[in-house]
Amino acid sequence: MENKNLQQRDGFSSKMGIIAAAAGSAIGLGNIWKFPYITGKYGGAAFILVYLLCIALIGLPVMLQEFTIGRRAQANAISSFKKLKPNTPWFLTGWLGFITAFVILSYYGVVAGWTLSYVFSAITNSFAGQNPEALGGMFGALVSSPWKPVLFQVIFMALTAGVILGGVKNGIEKYSKILMPLLLLIIIILDIRAVTLQGAGEGIAFLFQPDFGKLTAAGIMSALGHAFFSLSLGMGTMITYGSYIGKKENLGVTALQVTIADTAIALLAGLAIFPAVFAFGIEPGSGPGLVFITLPNVFNQMPGGYIFAIMFFVLLAVAALTSSISILEVVVAYFVEDKGWDRKKATIIATVAITALGAFESLTNGTINFTLPLLKAGAVTWFGFFDWMIELSDLLLPIGGFFISIFVGWIMSKKDVDDEITNSGELAHSWVGIFDFLTKWVAPILILITFINLIVGFTN
Ligand code: PHE
Repeated sequence: MENKNLQQRDGFSSKMGIIAAAAGSAIGLGNIWKFPYITGKYGGAAFILVYLLCIALIGLPVMLQEFTIGRRAQANAISSFKKLKPNTPWFLTGWLGFITAFVILSYYGVVAGWTLSYVFSAITNSFAGQNPEALGGMFGALVSSPWKPVLFQVIFMALTAGVILGGVKNGIEKYSKILMPLLLLIIIILDIRAVTLQGAGEGIAFLFQPDFGKLTAAGIMSALGHAFFSLSLGMGTMITYGSYIGKKENLGVTALQVTIADTAIALLAGLAIFPAVFAFGIEPGSGPGLVFITLPNVFNQMPGGYIFAIMFFVLLAVAALTSSISILEVVVAYFVEDKGWDRKKATIIATVAITALGAFESLTNGTINFTLPLLKAGAVTWFGFFDWMIELSDLLLPIGGFFISIFVGWIMSKKDVDDEITNSGELAHSWVGIFDFLTKWVAPILILITFINLIVGFTN
């Protein structure tokens, strides 16, 4: 090809590639591990309704905003703001995302490590013949062990770094495209088994019959935080990925497809888990172990459960990988483009720092006692350091999203925004006015109200 092409930024090669990579980022432990356990913690259907509202009114517009910023600026999360609004403090929004990426990836790697460890438990047939209590004990023993979760976390983070070193086309895109549809298939099979279990009805009611009395300020905050987490928003991931999307692609349609896929997987995961939770008498609010304790019970109750268990945990680890690379890419793209580091140096330094933080978090699950205070439910609550980082990310992402909405709604030139969304007038969108309204008013105001509600705690 021509020489000038050598100068181009690395990018996604096809439409399917973009959707697979963005959906690969969105779909991960958030859908299958985090969504069910916080749904259980905050009482079920009413929480889910608030979550869905957050997705539609805030998440979807913010995703399109991030794509718009990234594709317009053709840069990473921090430089995008510098390019679009030079000599203003707006680049701090990118920095906030950089810090949030550190926080999230540190614990994400730990949970992904648990998943890898469960691959081996599945292969050695360790679930077979165990009752729900024993499976709970098995999970507890894993996370509180000093070395085992750290070992698997290190392996997972090394895999993440490996993909990132391959670059956009050869790394991220290639892996995302093949494996996500397979994961969907397994979840649907698990759904069928779960809803036909003896006593599944109570779990289905828990998912679909809202009891608004159970909704707390902390629950609403968590639903909002999780909408951002699950869609990979509020920290620059979709800004970074947006910068790799070709000028001819339709950003609005891409955002909609990713949002629908992500939400569907979360709901299907919930449907695989809660009927089983009630059928086996597991406590729905039992926290981060919920999936790891519940699903092995389901595998024990299905023909071919041995194989399904292996496939499920392998694919969950892969889903986690297509997400973790998108988090690490935020950090690496900054070092490479702004600091001029080579990709290898940037990847290694970022991975080592994040893994070290995560290993410390893992140790606070049993070996080291370390708690910190955080505002939750309108009061100051103490959390163990591992849970503290999870709660912190649920606060940081909406703060990032607030500034992103303000930036696109009020700061960027209206023409730039319209040009990106309509591909300079080529696409006629009847919904641009709605997007505008959601961006300028609805998203930032709802985020603000959620924070005020949390601080005042008046729903308690
Ligand atoms: N969305 C991913 C998940 O659901 C996690 C993630 C958060 C990825 C933020 C990128 C940015 O697992």
